[in-house]
Amino acid sequence: MDEATTILFVTSNQGKITEAKEVLRPYGINVESYVPNPEIDEIQSADLVEVAADKLMKAVSNSTLSSSIFGVMVEDAGFFLDEYEGFPGVYSAYVHKTLGISGVLRSLKGIENRNASFRCVIGIHIEGENFFFEGACKGIVSDKIRGVNGFGYDPLFIPNEGDGRTFAEMKLEEKAIFSHRAKALEAFRSFLDEWKQSPTSNHGNGS
Ligand code: IMP
Repeated sequence: MDEATTILFVTSNQGKITEAKEVLRPYGINVESYVPNPEIDEIQSADLVEVAADKLMKAVSNSTLSSSIFGVMVEDAGFFLDEYEGFPGVYSAYVHKTLGISGVLRSLKGIENRNASFRCVIGIHIEGENFFFEGACKGIVSDKIRGVNGFGYDPLFIPNEGDGRTFAEMKLEEKAIFSHRAKALEAFRSFLDEWKQSPTSNHGNGS
């Protein structure tokens, strides 16, 4: 594989790494995990892009970039419930840690509106510039916890584009067909195709 297309993904979430590898591998992009020590503090903001932008700035200044690293990538994602005007959204990690998915499920007991979505923003630093890509996946909240795959809220989420299974009941490659993360990564990948061909880029031939 071309060394120039190795991307450092700054996250300690193994699930996110595995998904990014799965989506980008077919395009010859290698994803490596990088966990700064101490880990990067996330700012609290109502905007996923703002969180990703801050994370990216900190990640770039924390990483020692070798010539074999093509880019540095961060991601911020959240689980948005329509009934609660998007909550937990940017607070998803905290709610997951405190209430857990069983608590979220309990909070929806008897509530008719079970529409939800995952949203994700990927920030990538390439050749001194920062680029952001977004992806969203709409679905509904299952009436019980189902499946053992994936991570986070996956056992609760039934994507509209799927066949009725939760993300946690799908294989990784199935989730990667329509997940919020896959969509953001696909947007990055098509940007990359154009960017590599642009006259100002010196990565067109993998040099
Ligand atoms: P963060 O992007 O790591 O801050 O994620 C916020 C919260 O959303 C964490 O609790 C994650 O576990 C959860 N989350 C992010 N992406 C996914 C996903 O693809 N599936 C399930 N939960 C997710």
